[in-house]
Amino acid sequence: MSKRYEPLTPPHRILLGPGPSNVPPAVTAALGAPVIGHLDPAFLAVMEEVQEMLRAVLRTENRFTLPVSGTGSAGMEAALVNVLEPGDRILVCVNGIFGERMCDIAARCGAELERVEAPWGSPVDPAAVRRALAASPAKVVAVVHAETSTGVLQPLPELAEAAHARGALFLVDAVTSLAGAPLETDAWGIDICYSGTQKCLSCPPGLAPITFGPRAVEVLEKRKTRVQSWYLDMTLILKYWGPDRVYHHTAPISMIYALREALRIVLEEGLEARWERHRRVHQALVRGLQKMGFSMLVAEADRAPMINTVLVPEGMDEAAVRRKLLDGAGIEIGGGLGALKGKVWRIGLMGASCTEENVEALLAALAAVR
Ligand SMILES: Cc1ncc(COP(=O)(O)O)c(C=O)c1O
Repeated sequence: MSKRYEPLTPPHRILLGPGPSNVPPAVTAALGAPVIGHLDPAFLAVMEEVQEMLRAVLRTENRFTLPVSGTGSAGMEAALVNVLEPGDRILVCVNGIFGERMCDIAARCGAELERVEAPWGSPVDPAAVRRALAASPAKVVAVVHAETSTGVLQPLPELAEAAHARGALFLVDAVTSLAGAPLETDAWGIDICYSGTQKCLSCPPGLAPITFGPRAVEVLEKRKTRVQSWYLDMTLILKYWGPDRVYHHTAPISMIYALREALRIVLEEGLEARWERHRRVHQALVRGLQKMGFSMLVAEADRAPMINTVLVPEGMDEAAVRRKLLDGAGIEIGGGLGALKGKVWRIGLMGASCTEENVEALLAALAAVR
């Protein structure tokens, strides 16, 4: 007899890990809205609204702003494969897992890679980037804004200046930071910026907002070789997201509905108010943790408010604590990645998950299980 499967009933969780974050009911409801054709005029109108709202959230006027089909890594890959051709030089700032991932993708593009590193838990020094560019220019300088593996928020304007002073494009990973901390694509001179839907936007994982500024578009137009990836070739994708509306791949209709609702909620709250909420709730968490005797990995001035790395006390079984939080209180927090495996917890305060009530629930649960 064949196996019988029950209807799906995932548990309700308080998501305080490195992503995904909790999804507001209006966004979940949007996922269930009727699927219509990807060239239906009603859907084209939704696409236009999504692009408009993405520009507002990314603080840009860039025409070339859209959600790539795929998670944050698809955004990373789209950003890199479109501007890099074999033999191009890229300087990547590396202070955690996601800087490493950029290096991996850039190498697969056949790019010549220069790494400027900082210890995990510290930001990259703009002076080191200036020195590296003075010694050997690069086509692209790439950096992660909020390094989710360490909890560091990288200041961007000085790096943008360093890149532009040497004629390089400035490429930023805002997967974790977007809508949770100030990010000014145009005012800071970011040429390419990508993000993901599942962090501070509080939408399910599945889309990667991306924007290309005029300098980056010029680079795209002057390519000598075809983009290595057909699926992520922005010149093809833009034919669907631009006025031509030429089919490239079937748009993930329901995810785009969900993103529309998530963006609407972000703008209804107001970006400044949302940044301030993330800052305030982060401080409440840090205060509470310190009162319990825990220490943070990252120095106060360098902390990303939406991803908090807490040092696991000597002798404590960090995985067992996480498991007890999940089983006992329905709260998810993250463990360490790479070099920080077993040494830190990563507590996300992202989007709808970022509330004082969630911080109180976590601190109480942590006090009970430690
Ligand atoms: C900073 C950063 N960049 C890129 C990614 C990759 O995104 P995804 O896992 O959605 O593919 C993540 C995911 O956590 C991230 O935190």
